[in-house]
Amino acid sequence: DYDKKILELKSKIKSYPDFPKPGILFWDIFSAISDGPTCKLLQSLLVQTIKAKFPDVEAVIGLESRGFLFSFSVAAELSIGCLPVRKKGKLPGEVVSYKYELEYGTDILEIQKGTIRKGLKCLIIDDLIATGGSITAATKLLQSCGADVIGCLAVIELTSLRGRQNIPEGIPVHSLIQYE
Ligand code: PRP
Ligand code: MG
Repeated sequence: DYDKKILELKSKIKSYPDFPKPGILFWDIFSAISDGPTCKLLQSLLVQTIKAKFPDVEAVIGLESRGFLFSFSVAAELSIGCLPVRKKGKLPGEVVSYKYELEYGTDILEIQKGTIRKGLKCLIIDDLIATGGSITAATKLLQSCGADVIGCLAVIELTSLRGRQNIPEGIPVHSLIQYE
């Protein structure tokens, strides 16, 4: 039943060759949520996975911007907090920042100061794991605030990029759908 649902979800996700750059195959998560039944299916698969794999979660951390689609919906369903990690300069008030290396240059992620109490059991959620760079940076940011990062969850994982191996050891990684 679970496997059947996963296959159904997989059949809805469209890919676009050479976007945003030549040679990149883009997996478009929005294609899966353009119809009601698939929204509901994806939502229930995420919630089911969290209940099974991360039952102690106290807050869901969504990564800007596509991670926000899922962080709010699952947090509402589980009645737990939904906290954003955003790119530099988007969050009001005092923030904690984490600077990390990209292929070309650097980027900065931020979270609002005071939203993470020490030991808060956080689950990071995003649409997709490619190199694992975004989840790794978010993990380090959260840990620098004293969070207990209990894992990360993505809808799609691109396995040939081996992002999982870049994510800090000891952080369980779970994805619903895998593509090479
Ligand atoms: C994409 C995707 C993930 C990230 C995965 O986000 O939504 O967040 O890249 O790549 P990584 O594992 O190599 O870090 P993007 O930065 O394109 O921004 P968006 O979510 O705002 O579209
Ligand atoms: Mg993203």
